Amino acid sequence: MPVSADGDFQELLAMARGFQPAKMLMTAVNLAVFDFLEEPRSAVEAASWLKANDRATGIFLNGLAALGLLVKEVDYFRNSAIASRYLVRGKDEYRGAIIKHMEHTWDRGWNDLQNTVLLGRPTEADPEKWVDKKTERDEKEVRAFICGMDAIARDLAPKVSAVLDLKKVSRLLDLGGGPATYAIAFAQANPHLQATVFDLPRPIIIAQEQIAKHRLTGRIATLAGNFLEDDIGSGYDFIWVSQILHSHDEKQCHLIIGKCVHALNLGGTLAIQDFYLNKDGASPLGPAMFGVHMLAVTPRGRAYTWGEVAEWMAQAGLSPAEHIRYDQGEASFLTAKKQ
Ligand SMILES: C[S@@+](CC[C@H](N)C(=O)[O-])C[C@H]1O[C@@H](n2cnc3c(N)ncnc32)[C@H](O)[C@@H]1O
Repeated sequence: MPVSADGDFQELLAMARGFQPAKMLMTAVNLAVFDFLEEPRSAVEAASWLKANDRATGIFLNGLAALGLLVKEVDYFRNSAIASRYLVRGKDEYRGAIIKHMEHTWDRGWNDLQNTVLLGRPTEADPEKWVDKKTERDEKEVRAFICGMDAIARDLAPKVSAVLDLKKVSRLLDLGGGPATYAIAFAQANPHLQATVFDLPRPIIIAQEQIAKHRLTGRIATLAGNFLEDDIGSGYDFIWVSQILHSHDEKQCHLIIGKCVHALNLGGTLAIQDFYLNKDGASPLGPAMFGVHMLAVTPRGRAYTWGEVAEWMAQAGLSPAEHIRYDQGEASFLTAKKQ
């Protein structure tokens, strides 16, 4: 949360300590503490299950209770409702992947923010090999990232689907579709629709797993490749590009938009979702923070204003873009037609 302009020192102190709850949540998810605390357990029982130190476990569980993640009754700890719903592995609503991914972005970028600000990009990131670098990552990291995208998109995709009229769309491309969450929601809501999810080779395996889980293998195809270099197909009536532009520089954004326009049928629609900034570049809070996140974890990314992206779409020959804010949240999308 931002500090108030005339606030006192306590607000600054709270901001400086802001990493503490985040790190506790990440540690608890990594240790799978919540799997064990569906039933009330003592700290000693938890320490034995975790193969951890008794004293440290007791202190840690008390801290998690103070944060509302656990409920403590006498000397027994159990999951609070929110932890039980989202943080227990094997449950349908489990969303631990995005929390693990957040920790990976600390290790791979945020921890080095000072150097990044001085140098202009993360020291580890080679802009020319960025995509390769990502595919070289540990399998667990790729899975946490892609399943983490699903953890976020799961709430948004049905809302997007509700405001999009895809009745006349036969062929849809979900470019950089990751876990296919949007393609799945669109296909479920529009039984006539055939979709293609395009992504890098490792994420596409996760997309295939998700598509199979939802029994949509006959209606959602997958294409593995690099959208900056490879053919993305053609003959689409609708192309959905969600949370892609922010990890690319302007030149790459123009390339991606141009390829989409080329791949669309006449009269087809390009929709680009992102965490768009307002014209001032410093609001809303979420997209402004997301811009720093991209600075910290990518060599060329940043958040863009919706006006910038609308202009790029027009420059690529599309009709004037419509900006659709479908939610109270901070993701929104632009749509424009190929004419
Ligand atoms: C932030 S995720 C967004 C996933 C999904 N569109 C969503 O909104 O939930 C970005 C996706 O783009 C994919 N991606 C990034 N660079 C790519 C490239 N050069 N070619 C193909 N896919 C790429 C990543 O693998 C990832 O799945």
